[in-house]
Amino acid sequence: MSEQRESSERFDEIFFEVYEWLPRQGPGSRDSTAQALALCDELPREPVIFDMGCGSGAQTLDLAALTDGMITALDSHAPLISKLEQEVNARGLQERVRPRVGDMAEPPAAPGSVDLIWSEGAAYFLGIEEALGLWRPLLRPGGYLAFTEAVWLRDDPPKAVLEMWQKEYPSMTDVQSNLAIARRCGYEIQGHFTLPKSDWWDQFYAPMEERIAALRHEYAADDQALAVLDALYGEIELHRQFGDVYGYEFIVLRVPA
Ligand SMILES: C[S@@+](CC[C@H](N)C(=O)[O-])C[C@H]1O[C@@H](n2cnc3c(N)ncnc32)[C@H](O)[C@@H]1O
Repeated sequence: MSEQRESSERFDEIFFEVYEWLPRQGPGSRDSTAQALALCDELPREPVIFDMGCGSGAQTLDLAALTDGMITALDSHAPLISKLEQEVNARGLQERVRPRVGDMAEPPAAPGSVDLIWSEGAAYFLGIEEALGLWRPLLRPGGYLAFTEAVWLRDDPPKAVLEMWQKEYPSMTDVQSNLAIARRCGYEIQGHFTLPKSDWWDQFYAPMEERIAALRHEYAADDQALAVLDALYGEIELHRQFGDVYGYEFIVLRVPA
Protein backbone atom coordinates (compact mmCIF):
# COMPACT_ATOMS: atom_id res chain seq x y z
CA MET A 1 0.00 0.00 0.00
CA SER A 2 1.40 3.45 -0.88
CA GLU A 3 2.33 5.77 1.98
CA GLN A 4 -0.12 8.39 0.72
CA ARG A 5 -3.00 5.90 0.53
CA GLU A 6 -2.13 4.51 3.94
CA SER A 7 -2.15 7.98 5.50
CA SER A 8 -5.46 8.90 3.84
CA GLU A 9 -7.02 5.66 5.12
CA ARG A 10 -5.71 6.47 8.57
CA PHE A 11 -7.21 9.96 8.26
CA ASP A 12 -10.62 8.47 7.42
CA GLU A 13 -10.38 5.99 10.28
CA ILE A 14 -9.71 8.66 12.91
CA PHE A 15 -12.09 11.14 11.26
CA PHE A 16 -14.94 8.63 11.57
CA GLU A 17 -13.95 7.74 15.15
CA VAL A 18 -14.67 11.38 15.88
CA TYR A 19 -17.69 11.94 13.61
CA GLU A 20 -19.63 8.74 14.30
CA TRP A 21 -19.66 9.64 17.97
CA LEU A 22 -21.16 13.14 17.51
CA PRO A 23 -24.89 13.86 17.90
CA ARG A 24 -24.79 15.46 14.45
CA GLN A 25 -22.15 15.61 11.73
CA GLY A 26 -22.47 19.30 10.88
CA PRO A 27 -23.83 22.57 12.26
CA GLY A 28 -27.58 22.60 12.94
CA SER A 29 -30.32 22.32 15.55
CA ARG A 30 -33.92 21.31 15.99
CA ASP A 31 -34.90 25.01 16.12
CA SER A 32 -33.28 25.73 12.74
CA THR A 33 -34.82 22.61 11.20
CA ALA A 34 -38.23 23.76 12.50
CA GLN A 35 -37.66 27.31 11.19
CA ALA A 36 -36.81 26.03 7.71
CA LEU A 37 -39.73 23.59 7.74
CA ALA A 38 -42.09 26.48 8.60
CA LEU A 39 -41.06 28.06 5.27
CA CYS A 40 -42.50 24.99 3.50
CA ASP A 41 -45.97 26.27 4.21
CA GLU A 42 -48.06 24.27 1.74
CA LEU A 43 -46.94 20.71 2.37
CA PRO A 44 -49.54 17.94 2.24
CA ARG A 45 -50.55 16.44 5.61
CA GLU A 46 -48.38 13.34 5.11
CA PRO A 47 -45.54 14.54 2.88
CA VAL A 48 -43.08 12.23 1.12
CA ILE A 49 -39.67 13.38 2.35
CA PHE A 50 -36.10 12.47 1.36
CA ASP A 51 -33.27 13.42 3.72
CA MET A 52 -30.12 13.41 1.57
CA GLY A 53 -26.80 12.83 3.36
CA CYS A 54 -28.64 12.33 6.65
CA GLY A 55 -25.58 11.28 8.70
CA SER A 56 -26.72 9.76 12.00
CA GLY A 57 -30.05 11.49 11.40
CA ALA A 58 -30.45 14.23 14.03
CA GLN A 59 -32.53 16.26 11.57
CA THR A 60 -34.31 13.14 10.25
CA LEU A 61 -35.65 12.46 13.75
CA ASP A 62 -36.65 16.12 14.13
CA LEU A 63 -38.50 15.98 10.80
CA ALA A 64 -40.25 12.81 11.98
CA ALA A 65 -41.38 14.62 15.11
CA LEU A 66 -42.38 17.82 13.29
CA THR A 67 -44.35 16.20 10.42
CA ASP A 68 -46.52 13.16 9.78
CA GLY A 69 -44.39 12.44 6.72
CA MET A 70 -42.88 9.29 5.27
CA ILE A 71 -39.12 9.87 5.37
CA THR A 72 -36.38 8.08 3.44
CA ALA A 73 -33.03 8.97 5.00
CA LEU A 74 -30.03 8.30 2.74
CA ASP A 75 -26.36 8.26 3.58
CA SER A 76 -23.38 6.54 1.96
CA HIS A 77 -21.65 5.79 5.29
CA ALA A 78 -23.18 2.59 6.68
CA PRO A 79 -22.22 3.02 10.38
CA LEU A 80 -24.15 6.31 10.51
CA ILE A 81 -27.22 4.64 9.00
CA SER A 82 -26.94 1.84 11.61
CA LYS A 83 -26.90 4.47 14.34
CA LEU A 84 -30.05 6.08 12.90
CA GLU A 85 -31.71 2.67 12.49
CA GLN A 86 -31.21 1.92 16.19
CA GLU A 87 -32.79 5.23 17.15
CA VAL A 88 -35.71 4.74 14.72
CA ASN A 89 -36.38 1.32 16.28
CA ALA A 90 -36.05 2.65 19.84
CA ARG A 91 -38.63 5.36 19.04
CA GLY A 92 -40.98 2.99 17.18
CA LEU A 93 -40.74 5.03 13.96
CA GLN A 94 -40.12 2.08 11.57
CA GLU A 95 -43.40 2.68 9.70
CA ARG A 96 -42.49 6.25 8.77
CA VAL A 97 -38.70 6.52 8.73
CA ARG A 98 -36.58 4.39 6.40
CA PRO A 99 -32.82 4.76 6.88
CA ARG A 100 -30.98 3.55 3.76
CA VAL A 101 -27.34 3.22 2.79
CA GLY A 102 -27.18 4.80 -0.65
CA ASP A 103 -25.91 7.46 -2.98
CA MET A 104 -27.84 10.72 -2.88
CA ALA A 105 -26.84 11.19 -6.54
CA GLU A 106 -29.12 8.21 -7.29
CA PRO A 107 -31.92 8.38 -4.76
CA PRO A 108 -34.60 5.65 -4.97
CA ALA A 109 -37.42 8.05 -5.94
CA ALA A 110 -39.62 8.24 -9.03
CA PRO A 111 -39.78 11.56 -10.92
CA GLY A 112 -42.37 13.95 -9.48
CA SER A 113 -42.99 11.79 -6.41
CA VAL A 114 -41.36 13.79 -3.60
CA ASP A 115 -42.94 16.65 -1.60
CA LEU A 116 -39.83 17.73 0.29
CA ILE A 117 -36.11 17.13 -0.17
CA TRP A 118 -34.02 17.93 2.90
CA SER A 119 -30.24 18.09 2.99
CA GLU A 120 -28.29 19.57 5.90
CA GLY A 121 -24.60 20.07 5.14
CA ALA A 122 -24.43 17.43 2.42
CA ALA A 123 -25.44 18.89 -0.98
CA TYR A 124 -21.93 20.32 -1.49
CA PHE A 125 -20.54 16.78 -1.74
CA LEU A 126 -22.26 16.62 -5.15
CA GLY A 127 -21.72 20.33 -5.87
CA ILE A 128 -24.63 22.71 -5.25
CA GLU A 129 -25.58 23.20 -8.90
CA GLU A 130 -25.34 19.44 -9.59
CA ALA A 131 -27.41 18.56 -6.51
CA LEU A 132 -30.10 21.16 -7.26
CA GLY A 133 -30.31 20.06 -10.90
CA LEU A 134 -30.35 16.36 -10.07
CA TRP A 135 -33.03 16.58 -7.39
CA ARG A 136 -35.45 18.98 -9.10
CA PRO A 137 -37.12 16.35 -11.37
CA LEU A 138 -37.86 14.20 -8.29
CA LEU A 139 -40.01 16.94 -6.78
CA ARG A 140 -43.67 17.25 -7.63
CA PRO A 141 -44.86 20.69 -8.86
CA GLY A 142 -45.00 22.86 -5.71
CA GLY A 143 -42.49 20.58 -3.92
CA TYR A 144 -39.77 22.01 -1.68
CA LEU A 145 -36.01 21.66 -1.30
CA ALA A 146 -34.41 22.78 1.98
CA PHE A 147 -30.64 22.60 2.37
CA THR A 148 -27.82 24.13 4.37
CA GLU A 149 -24.62 25.28 2.79
CA ALA A 150 -21.36 26.86 3.98
CA VAL A 151 -21.14 30.46 2.73
CA TRP A 152 -18.93 33.50 3.00
CA LEU A 153 -20.62 36.08 5.22
CA ARG A 154 -18.06 38.76 4.41
CA ASP A 155 -16.45 39.58 1.09
CA ASP A 156 -13.04 40.44 2.61
CA PRO A 157 -12.01 37.22 4.40
CA PRO A 158 -8.62 37.34 6.17
CA LYS A 159 -5.85 35.37 4.44
CA ALA A 160 -5.67 32.53 7.00
CA VAL A 161 -9.33 31.64 6.66
CA LEU A 162 -9.36 32.13 2.89
CA GLU A 163 -6.42 29.74 2.50
CA MET A 164 -8.10 27.07 4.63
CA TRP A 165 -11.35 27.16 2.68
CA GLN A 166 -9.54 27.32 -0.65
CA LYS A 167 -8.01 23.99 0.31
CA GLU A 168 -11.17 22.42 1.77
CA TYR A 169 -13.93 23.87 -0.40
CA PRO A 170 -12.61 26.14 -3.16
CA SER A 171 -16.02 26.73 -4.77
CA MET A 172 -17.62 28.01 -1.57
CA THR A 173 -19.46 31.23 -2.38
CA ASP A 174 -21.93 33.65 -0.78
CA VAL A 175 -25.69 33.54 -0.21
CA GLN A 176 -26.65 35.60 -3.28
CA SER A 177 -24.60 33.38 -5.60
CA ASN A 178 -26.33 30.29 -4.18
CA LEU A 179 -29.73 31.91 -4.75
CA ALA A 180 -28.70 32.71 -8.33
CA ILE A 181 -27.78 29.03 -8.86
CA ALA A 182 -31.17 28.01 -7.45
CA ARG A 183 -33.05 30.31 -9.83
CA ARG A 184 -30.97 29.04 -12.75
CA CYS A 185 -31.97 25.48 -11.81
CA GLY A 186 -35.66 26.46 -11.98
CA TYR A 187 -36.54 26.99 -8.33
CA GLU A 188 -38.33 29.86 -6.60
CA ILE A 189 -36.80 31.18 -3.37
CA GLN A 190 -39.06 30.54 -0.35
CA GLY A 191 -36.64 32.04 2.16
CA HIS A 192 -33.25 31.71 3.80
CA PHE A 193 -31.50 32.47 7.09
CA THR A 194 -28.04 32.13 8.62
CA LEU A 195 -27.68 29.46 11.30
CA PRO A 196 -27.03 30.99 14.73
CA LYS A 197 -23.62 30.50 16.37
CA SER A 198 -25.13 28.05 18.88
CA ASP A 199 -25.84 25.68 15.93
CA TRP A 200 -22.08 25.33 15.43
CA TRP A 201 -21.26 24.71 19.07
CA ASP A 202 -23.99 22.96 21.05
CA GLN A 203 -24.27 19.73 19.09
CA PHE A 204 -21.22 19.89 16.84
CA TYR A 205 -17.99 21.60 17.90
CA ALA A 206 -18.46 21.32 21.71
CA PRO A 207 -18.94 17.51 21.58
CA MET A 208 -16.20 17.30 18.93
CA GLU A 209 -13.77 19.02 21.31
CA GLU A 210 -14.73 16.53 24.00
CA ARG A 211 -14.24 13.59 21.66
CA ILE A 212 -10.87 14.88 20.40
CA ALA A 213 -9.64 15.28 24.01
CA ALA A 214 -10.64 11.68 24.83
CA LEU A 215 -9.00 10.27 21.68
CA ARG A 216 -5.81 12.29 22.26
CA HIS A 217 -5.52 10.43 25.51
CA GLU A 218 -6.24 7.07 23.88
CA TYR A 219 -3.78 7.68 21.01
CA ALA A 220 -1.10 9.43 23.09
CA ALA A 221 1.64 7.27 21.52
CA ASP A 222 0.30 7.36 17.94
CA ASP A 223 1.71 10.33 16.00
CA GLN A 224 -0.41 9.71 12.90
CA ALA A 225 -3.64 9.70 14.88
CA LEU A 226 -2.58 12.77 16.85
CA ALA A 227 -1.86 14.65 13.59
CA VAL A 228 -5.42 13.92 12.38
CA LEU A 229 -6.88 15.05 15.72
CA ASP A 230 -4.79 18.25 15.50
CA ALA A 231 -6.15 18.94 12.02
CA LEU A 232 -9.75 18.47 13.21
CA TYR A 233 -9.10 20.67 16.21
CA GLY A 234 -7.65 23.33 13.89
CA GLU A 235 -11.03 23.57 12.15
CA ILE A 236 -12.71 24.28 15.49
CA GLU A 237 -10.12 26.92 16.39
CA LEU A 238 -10.55 28.57 13.01
CA HIS A 239 -14.26 28.87 13.64
CA ARG A 240 -13.69 30.25 17.13
CA GLN A 241 -11.53 32.95 15.56
CA PHE A 242 -13.34 33.62 12.28
CA GLY A 243 -16.94 32.51 12.93
CA ASP A 244 -18.20 35.89 11.67
CA VAL A 245 -16.47 35.55 8.31
CA TYR A 246 -18.18 32.35 7.14
CA GLY A 247 -21.31 30.54 8.23
CA TYR A 248 -24.02 28.11 7.23
CA GLU A 249 -27.10 29.31 5.38
CA PHE A 250 -30.42 27.45 5.41
CA ILE A 251 -31.94 27.92 1.96
CA VAL A 252 -35.51 26.86 1.21
CA LEU A 253 -36.60 26.57 -2.43
CA ARG A 254 -39.78 25.61 -4.25
CA VAL A 255 -40.55 24.15 -7.64
CA PRO A 256 -43.24 26.35 -9.27
CA ALA A 257 -46.68 24.81 -8.65
C1 LIG B 1 -21.57 17.07 6.93
S1 LIG B 1 -22.38 15.52 7.03
C2 LIG B 1 -24.02 16.04 7.48
C3 LIG B 1 -24.85 14.95 8.09
C4 LIG B 1 -26.21 15.36 8.63
N1 LIG B 1 -27.08 15.87 7.59
C5 LIG B 1 -26.05 16.39 9.72
O1 LIG B 1 -26.23 17.60 9.43
O2 LIG B 1 -25.76 15.99 10.86
C6 LIG B 1 -22.57 15.05 5.32
C7 LIG B 1 -23.06 13.63 5.12
O3 LIG B 1 -23.21 13.40 3.73
C8 LIG B 1 -22.87 12.04 3.47
N2 LIG B 1 -22.58 11.89 2.03
C9 LIG B 1 -21.56 12.42 1.31
N3 LIG B 1 -21.66 12.09 0.01
C10 LIG B 1 -22.77 11.31 -0.11
C11 LIG B 1 -23.43 10.66 -1.20
N4 LIG B 1 -22.96 10.77 -2.46
N5 LIG B 1 -24.55 9.97 -0.95
C12 LIG B 1 -25.05 9.87 0.30
N6 LIG B 1 -24.48 10.46 1.38
C13 LIG B 1 -23.36 11.19 1.19
C14 LIG B 1 -21.69 11.77 4.39
O4 LIG B 1 -21.52 10.39 4.63
C15 LIG B 1 -22.10 12.57 5.64
O5 LIG B 1 -22.76 11.75 6.56
